[in-house]
Amino acid sequence: MCGIVAYVGSKQCQQLMLEGLKRLEYRGYDSAGIATIDHGKIRVVKTIGRVANLEDKLETVGAMRGTIGMCHTRWATHGGVTDFNAHPHTDDKSGICIIHNGIIENYASLKTYLEEKGHRFVSQTDTEVLAMLIGELYDGDLEAAVQAALRECTGAYGIVVMCEREPETLVAARKGSPLMVGVGDGEFLVASDGSAIISHTSQAFALEDYQVVKITPQGFRTSTIHNVPVTPKVQQLEIELEEIELGGYSHFMQKEIFEQPKALRNTFRGRFGIEDGRVVLGGLADHAKELVKAKRVVLLGQGTALHAAMIGRYLFEDLAKIPATSEFSSEFRYRNPMIEENTVAIAVSQSGETADTLAALIEAKDRGALALGVINVVGSTIARETDAGVYLRVGPEIGVASTKAFVGQVAALTLVAMWMGRRRYMSADQCSSLMKSFEQIPEKIERVLATDEHIKKVTQKYVDRENWLFLGRGYNYPTALEGALKLKEISYIHAEGMPAAEMKHGPIALINEGMPAVFIANRGRQYEKVMSNIQEVRARGGHVIAVATEGDENIRKYAEDVFYVPDIEEPLSPILTVVPLQLMAYHAAVLRGHDVDKPRNLAKSVTVE
Ligand code: AGP
Ligand code: GLU
Repeated sequence: MCGIVAYVGSKQCQQLMLEGLKRLEYRGYDSAGIATIDHGKIRVVKTIGRVANLEDKLETVGAMRGTIGMCHTRWATHGGVTDFNAHPHTDDKSGICIIHNGIIENYASLKTYLEEKGHRFVSQTDTEVLAMLIGELYDGDLEAAVQAALRECTGAYGIVVMCEREPETLVAARKGSPLMVGVGDGEFLVASDGSAIISHTSQAFALEDYQVVKITPQGFRTSTIHNVPVTPKVQQLEIELEEIELGGYSHFMQKEIFEQPKALRNTFRGRFGIEDGRVVLGGLADHAKELVKAKRVVLLGQGTALHAAMIGRYLFEDLAKIPATSEFSSEFRYRNPMIEENTVAIAVSQSGETADTLAALIEAKDRGALALGVINVVGSTIARETDAGVYLRVGPEIGVASTKAFVGQVAALTLVAMWMGRRRYMSADQCSSLMKSFEQIPEKIERVLATDEHIKKVTQKYVDRENWLFLGRGYNYPTALEGALKLKEISYIHAEGMPAAEMKHGPIALINEGMPAVFIANRGRQYEKVMSNIQEVRARGGHVIAVATEGDENIRKYAEDVFYVPDIEEPLSPILTVVPLQLMAYHAAVLRGHDVDKPRNLAKSVTVE
């Protein structure tokens, strides 16, 4: 579901399109391609790997000529990651060329129909089916052929189509996968988001679902797939420019905390088949059989990624009913680990460059494990080492303290656990119901972000304290560790996270008058137990800051301060309960005058052991 850039106008368009495509790389992808019409002929160049690989290939095969074209970064859903399956795709009859983000769900029946009509396919993708269908319906009017074809399709699409017989026309259409149209002076761009348009024009409009736009250098016409004319709202795009810069935020960490709802929508997009209760993860398709037979999952990571891996352990046991462990990569690699048959090793990493996690994954692979990656940076070293994987798609994370990548890792691990669960014991209804809750998370995060002012005020009360405890149980024990790490790494306050029950086995000796103890006390299996631990801290003079579920008035009797989060199923709760902890760490660092985005001694990616 990744990246689209197309152009029609008076300029040679290869370079400008590729520059736009690079601005979309953050979305995560596995292959890239480009096509133009030059002197009435369509030319296509495409390759697996990064946009840089495509540029290298163009150096070799020769640059694209033409003032109309399209380019694409693919996230495989139908058909493996191969040059043939990369976009653009052409048809075999009418000189049609198409790029597509999304999934044509009824592609199989359409493919059978088209094969019976004599069409010969060269790829395994659903997109090529749409190219052939448009070609089959084409009779000299590209806009009409696209409308007719889309009336036959179900699923999600953001497409751009061109045709040799109309060498100055682009037709774009959208349902589910975003597309914007940039309106320039005698030139137009179509792209997945404004970041690929802003350098050419600040005037743009978004296509709505079931809308089609026909564009030539002279102008454009928008309609529905039933050819009912519509009038788009052309708007100023300057906000888009800020989105790829610091924007209105004071720090990248603050921006990345606040863009978590949008980031998660990108993580989720195209991966929920709610109707049939299936998770769609194109990056796992080629290893589905091995994954279904898996007997154990070993999750590997460091720092924040390890905390996500620890939550993953609970998720795999709860949702996929498979034994799972989570390990410090650095310990695993030197421990002479036991890897039995049918073991899956999952490397969790934002950067995909952490040396210990890379080495641990290689160790597991050498001992026979299937290697999966849950990674943000596309084409990173660890990603290239894996047999399969799921990219986070949360966009570039610039702040050293990881925030949106953490929630992206937990969300991606939840999707993998559901994907495996559905192929083992989870029913379609169970999966659909969990997906529906999952889909509400971005809006629930927005509600927590709206309490930022309150979180800042509470942080001001305690920012001078030098020793904090973070305590949680079950799914929120790793969240407590994450909250402690966030505070440590950017405010330099000493903080220790632990299972709430562990406090009695020693750390309770630390409690003195006024010591902040942060409890994650949301509604869950162990709520009553957490309440008892809270009482133990209060009895010794500690100051309790609680993360609790909206509507829980009981907690106010025991906690000095409360951060409320919306109610949600326990397996999904860490993505919400971590947000107040991220904001508290952020405000503590700002109040202490530290460099929030580049804290002392820390690197964004630890590529050394
Ligand atoms: C998180 O805030 C830290 N910056 C650090 O712990 C980080 O999570 C760890 O180094 C792992 O990095 P990775 O996710 O890129 O592998
Ligand atoms: N379903 C298409 C394919 O697998 C498009 C995937 C995407 O959105 O990049 O090629």
